[in-house]
Amino acid sequence: MKKLNIAIIGCGFMGRTHSNAYRRVSNFFDLEYKPVLKAICDRNEEKAKGFANQWDYESVETDWKKMLERDDIDIIDICTPNNLHAEIAIAAAEAGKMIVCEKPLAMNAAQGQTMVDAVEKAGVANLVSYNYRRIPAVTLAKNLIDQGKLGKIYHYRANFLQDWTISTDLPQGGDGLWRLDVKESGSGVTGDLLAHCIDTAIWLNGPIKEVTAMTETFVKERQSVTSGKVEPVKIDDACAFLARFANGSLAVFESTRYARGHKALYTFEINGEHASIAWDLHDLHRLSWFDHRDEGITRGWRSIHVTDGEHPYMDKWWVPGLQIGYEHSFVHQVADFLEGLAKSTPVSPTFRDALETQKVCDAVLDSAKSGQWVKI
Ligand SMILES: NC(=O)c1ccc[n+]([C@@H]2O[C@H](COP(=O)([O-])OP(=O)(O)OC[C@H]3O[C@@H](n4cnc5c(N)ncnc54)[C@H](O)[C@@H]3O)[C@@H](O)[C@H]2O)c1
Repeated sequence: MKKLNIAIIGCGFMGRTHSNAYRRVSNFFDLEYKPVLKAICDRNEEKAKGFANQWDYESVETDWKKMLERDDIDIIDICTPNNLHAEIAIAAAEAGKMIVCEKPLAMNAAQGQTMVDAVEKAGVANLVSYNYRRIPAVTLAKNLIDQGKLGKIYHYRANFLQDWTISTDLPQGGDGLWRLDVKESGSGVTGDLLAHCIDTAIWLNGPIKEVTAMTETFVKERQSVTSGKVEPVKIDDACAFLARFANGSLAVFESTRYARGHKALYTFEINGEHASIAWDLHDLHRLSWFDHRDEGITRGWRSIHVTDGEHPYMDKWWVPGLQIGYEHSFVHQVADFLEGLAKSTPVSPTFRDALETQKVCDAVLDSAKSGQWVKI
């Protein structure tokens, strides 16, 4: 196997999922390339050193620009808060590095466009980490839709519900909590959670044509970790929107961090002419399936345990009946990216693909402000 040197920037939650994926992928997938954990970067030196130790990184940096100057780095993997994605990705493209970038692509679509231009001008391989596509049950949903098993699609419904920002004492800014500070996040649940739902929706059901949205910020002021002062909260705490797809189907999307009892309840349901599909992140190895063509007396919702060798990705893991989890979606993402490199073919979602999601996010936020339908 040819070695491919990885440098990750940001050793928080995503730094861990990506490191785990690079470390495990060659154990389970037959690939031409083998990732090597070459360098880890975080602005917090102590954290970076501890992380390097735990994950066996060969070197540590505290300034991401240094990683771009190094000849021994092939892939820059951006796991920092959203406000840094564009600056790092554009500089990495100019330095000729391949890039994996966490979602959302950018703070907004205009910024995302500059990132697309940079990677396409440099001709470097690029991927955005919309990892839910690569949960086997979700990939199975895609295969069933592409095979035409649902027939014409009428409805798409998605939710992403959490409850961790209800406390008014929670500050804005800093590790994890940068999500509440619009300067670092760009938006609230729209870019953080609905972006996942929108990416999956476009992938499964095609382009979104227009949206009408409402948002709310329930807690209006929070202490800023950076300034120490109480500052206005400018993110959307909750967002609900209606959408029309280009294929004529209608959609309802909802996300909030104020749904007491829900931790990461990402669900979608798709209703077609012949069949319906439903999926739930809390039970991610199952796909619910209803087929109207089944014999009447036994017709009903069935719960497919997506663990057979013939299910997407599952022949790489254990034996039928034994399930895998959240972290494997990142392993699959890396496996697909490395396979794309071997074949010199782009792997979706590229920066250009992810820009479509960003445009829908922008339209949702614009519509919430104007109260009007907004075309994408
Ligand atoms: N794909 C997914 O399901 C998923 C899930 C969570 C987060 N994300 C995305 O991943 C990104 C990171 O989120 P997270 O949850 O890992 O955040 P986090 O707060 O856990 O970690 C971010 C890390 O970046 C570091 N950092 C900040 N500025 C830096 C700089 N200038 N140089 C070097 N390091 C810097 C911080 O010190 C921190 O360790 C975000 O864009 C987020 O939207 C994606």
